[in-house]
Amino acid sequence: MKVLLIGNGGRENAIAWKICQSKLLNKLYVAPGNAGTAQIAENINIESEDSESIINFALEKKIDLVVIGPEIPLARGLSDKCKENGIQCFGPSRVASQLESSKQFAKSIMNECGIPNGVSVSVNSVEAAMDSLNSFSLPVVIKADGLAAGKGVFICNSKMDAETAIKDILEKKIFGKSGNSLIIEEFLEGPEISVFAFTDGKSISPLIGACDYKRIGEGDTGPNTGGMGAYSPAPFWNKEFEKNISENVFRKIINYMDSQYSGYVGVLFAGLIITKDGPKVLEFNCRLGDPETQVILPLLETDLLNVMQHCVNGTLESKFVRWSTKSSVTVVMASDGYPGKYTTGHSISGLDNINHSDTIIFHAGTKILNDKSVITNGGRVLSVTAVDISIEKARKNVYKHLSEIKFEGSYNRTDIALI
Ligand SMILES: Nc1ncnc2c1ncn2[C@@H]1O[C@H](COP(=O)(O)OP(=O)(O)O)[C@@H](O)[C@H]1O
Ligand SMILES: [Mg+2]
Repeated sequence: MKVLLIGNGGRENAIAWKICQSKLLNKLYVAPGNAGTAQIAENINIESEDSESIINFALEKKIDLVVIGPEIPLARGLSDKCKENGIQCFGPSRVASQLESSKQFAKSIMNECGIPNGVSVSVNSVEAAMDSLNSFSLPVVIKADGLAAGKGVFICNSKMDAETAIKDILEKKIFGKSGNSLIIEEFLEGPEISVFAFTDGKSISPLIGACDYKRIGEGDTGPNTGGMGAYSPAPFWNKEFEKNISENVFRKIINYMDSQYSGYVGVLFAGLIITKDGPKVLEFNCRLGDPETQVILPLLETDLLNVMQHCVNGTLESKFVRWSTKSSVTVVMASDGYPGKYTTGHSISGLDNINHSDTIIFHAGTKILNDKSVITNGGRVLSVTAVDISIEKARKNVYKHLSEIKFEGSYNRTDIALI
């Protein structure tokens, strides 16, 4: 098969790495990719949001499968455009992707299907928001309805903070159209987990969960980032938990999407908080997570390309997908200053010292130069993953190897997977 993967993060490096292990693969292109994907596939100079160029390239090269990594191309209907042009695509349609691109859409489906989630209201005027605010206790959560690159959620400890967030979203439009409406939601307390499944629109694979770390600082302090590390499995993960989430969340959503929106094909990702009243859904994403992908794909025992092929063909058998019961840990190496200002262009050393049998390096913000040297090119630069028989062992390996990789101003949290 000839495959075109869309995206350029650590997630896409991990997807590319796994696809490259497939016997079904003849050629992998990545648009636009990074230095990590350049070493295992062919990067092409097309941005992930340039759907016209993506379609033209896929037609010209007779691509058998387009795989969409990030959320924006999904929300803009790249999957539909592929289909219109007779190209198979792994990733849900634009309407189905509203599960991620509109929190109100997701909330209304959850409430209709009886999927446990936080009490919320959706509003599109400051006046209505201020009225509704009075019925929530503090802290209260204010969320822009649309995509906001992980920055659209405010956890407000005072009414004044909530009012500021509401005005910033609805009046100042700090997230543009993504803030045409917002959700006010009750604050949920408990450990958080990201849960993933592959689906062909009818069958749902066994689930896998990962816990990620959003804050920049040790002990979950400081501003939010795209994610600084992750591990799997969660300490509370067991068969019974998986069955509960599969039946009461994934099955209900997939059935609903099948009956109302011509089905959902791809990866479904549920973000959950395990409250004292049981798991509650925070949100859905319509793709793999970053850095969760770097943790879970090394645990996938099945050929990823074959799984994707079954999903797009509607022939997925749930048990075909097998997850290892081992433990996996990923730590992100970032540029000092991230998620604020940082510098790029620093050369990275030590990438070749890694013993690849127990550790994998995935690139994110990196660039490869003509002389094959690799320099930093983003906030999140690399992630290092190890799989072992326990979280402690995997964690030890990650930190051991990570210390051998050096670039000016490198920063990583030292408390990932300390559980
Ligand atoms: N109701 C809530 N209670 C507590 N924490 C929340 C709540 N909603 C969101 N959060 C926190 O904010 C983060 C981002 O919210 P989420 O709904 O996942 O939106 P997005 O990923 O689109 O930014 C979550 O991962 C969670 O840590
Ligand atoms: Mg989220």
